[in-house]
Amino acid sequence: MAFEDLKNKTVAITGGAGVIGHSLAHGLAENGMNVAILDLDADKAEALAKELSQQHGINSAGIACDVLDKASIEAARDVLVDTFGQLDFLINGAGGNSPEASTEVEQIKADSPDLKGSFFELPEEQFRRTLDLNLMGTVLPSQILGPLLVKQSRGAILNISSMNAYRPLTKIPAYSAGKCAVSNFTEWLAVHLAETGVRVNAIAPGFFLTEQLKFLAFDDKGELTDRYRRVLERTPVHRFGETHELIDPTLFLLSNTSAFITGVILPVDGGFNAYSGV
Ligand SMILES: NC(=O)c1ccc[n+]([C@@H]2O[C@H](COP(=O)([O-])OP(=O)(O)OC[C@H]3O[C@@H](n4cnc5c(N)ncnc54)[C@H](O)[C@@H]3O)[C@@H](O)[C@H]2O)c1
Repeated sequence: MAFEDLKNKTVAITGGAGVIGHSLAHGLAENGMNVAILDLDADKAEALAKELSQQHGINSAGIACDVLDKASIEAARDVLVDTFGQLDFLINGAGGNSPEASTEVEQIKADSPDLKGSFFELPEEQFRRTLDLNLMGTVLPSQILGPLLVKQSRGAILNISSMNAYRPLTKIPAYSAGKCAVSNFTEWLAVHLAETGVRVNAIAPGFFLTEQLKFLAFDDKGELTDRYRRVLERTPVHRFGETHELIDPTLFLLSNTSAFITGVILPVDGGFNAYSGV
């Protein structure tokens, strides 16, 4: 089996009950890994854990965890250690954008006196929440769960960045800034931990039609918006990603196959990031 070294190792996935987390959890469990699903939504996490154990015959647990609350992450760590005895890998998957932290318009017209729906009206609280969820939601679990990996002098942390980290998309300034910070933090932590044997990398998914994106991707009639038509035009392979296409890049970055790779952000994007549009 490819990625044999991952078999029987334990991985924690924050935000694991979400769309991408669900897909990664199945992919990793299929490869014989034990999977802890850490999510704000404890019911969904537990249901997924049950599904993973039944379908793949591995150990799995759904554990309530708020990645923005240190006490909650510490409590999740304790349950995790009680259940699995150790932790080998951490995937920081909790994150995302919210409509309240998004502008309604892409640009302000020079002759428009109306700032409605523009950057100038974004609520501070929502901006901070999105920034925090993506950056601190990656930093805090790394701080609290990372020592379990360092103690074993091996393992890896995998963060989830975004196309927005390279160049921001219109409308979503808080998410863009947050993911840019996630990429930067990935490089920083990789250097900080390099001598411990723990590697730190990220994947940067392109466009996957998951729940978070649907409000931007489809109009009231369920038709693809002009914005997402433009995304397809700018994606050289001319299609959206399927979440299962994130599994092998994840296995690769966790396993010893990539032993000399740390501090990289791997785009999984059908060429979106490479294309200038011309
Ligand atoms: N969907 C895409 O196309 C896409 C593209 C690039 C990057 N990403 C990133 O991939 C990751 C997963 O995205 P997704 O589409 O699966 O999102 P999702 O909304 O389906 O899942 C996110 C999960 O995180 C959980 N969560 C939210 N706040 C939390 C908190 N404070 N503590 C713990 N858990 C929390 C939610 O309960 C949910 O289960 C996110 O970081 C997202 O930004 C997604």
